[in-house]
Amino acid sequence: MPDYAYFNKQIMPISEAKVGIMTHALHYGTACFEGIRGNWNAEKGQIYLFRVKEHYERLSRSCHIMRIGFPYDIDELVEITLELVRKSGRQEDVYIRPLAYKSSQLVGVRMHNVEDDILIFVTPFGPYLDLDKGARCCVSSWRRVDDTMIPARAKVTGIYVNSALAKTEAFENGYDEAIFLNHDGHVAEGSGENIFLVMSGKLVTPPSSDNILVGITRDAAITLAREELGIETVERSIDRSELYIADECFMTGTAAHLTPVVEVDHRAIGNGKVGQITKKLQTMYFDVIRGNNPKYSHWTSPAYKQPVGSTKKASSR
Ligand SMILES: Cc1ncc(COP(=O)(O)O)c(C=O)c1O
Repeated sequence: MPDYAYFNKQIMPISEAKVGIMTHALHYGTACFEGIRGNWNAEKGQIYLFRVKEHYERLSRSCHIMRIGFPYDIDELVEITLELVRKSGRQEDVYIRPLAYKSSQLVGVRMHNVEDDILIFVTPFGPYLDLDKGARCCVSSWRRVDDTMIPARAKVTGIYVNSALAKTEAFENGYDEAIFLNHDGHVAEGSGENIFLVMSGKLVTPPSSDNILVGITRDAAITLAREELGIETVERSIDRSELYIADECFMTGTAAHLTPVVEVDHRAIGNGKVGQITKKLQTMYFDVIRGNNPKYSHWTSPAYKQPVGSTKKASSR
């Protein structure tokens, strides 16, 4: 079965959805995007989309900041997305990529007087970082873009050059992931994840004013910690050296799920193993995203109208 895209206001096989070489967004990074996961639950024969509406709401806010037209009804976009996943017929984890982009075929660096369009596609997508062993991270030599340069709270394609440089530097130096500092030296986030520390029984994470993408998984972690474990989250600026002395550390993101961080700049975090609070949160989070916790069913949208059969064993991940 082919995977499908929504392109030019129609659903079509991905192979037929093509943009021209002069497309504005391709040259100038003038697009906003989302990443949404569809999580396969083999026991239930269902793919659950995680907080799909919130992703489109964030896309709308990103476009508002960037002056990219977003004249869409969010419920309709959710419906199109569910239809794309249904048509893919997949029985595995999928990733959905909506992209609202400057679509005119023209040369000219600006946001005004350039046409806007949207596309959405679905593709299979497994784990991004090692969820069991945890990630070994470094503090990047690249600083996070500042709100005065390109606002990190908008998920702009152009910003991901900043992330890509940091990720490749980390990879080439033997690490799994990079942690950005802001221009003022405080911790911002990973190349594609928000970051949390566990300190004296509380979660600590940078505030939305410290040049982060305000993650939907971040919000899920804060909510689950508060509601299920009675653990408070303190949003405050974090020094680099606090990374080294935290009891536990983890990252959150649509791709990364809830990934433990076991080492930063060659310093073990805690005892160098996955922390207890991190493990508890990760277990709850996977239950929630796979549609196994009715208390949080408002966060998950089932794609298939009827359960689909599978011989695959149910995974807790
Ligand atoms: C730079 C960055 N920060 C944080 C996140 C986490 O956001 P979310 O949990 O909404 O996926 C992402 C992933 O989308 C990201 O790319």
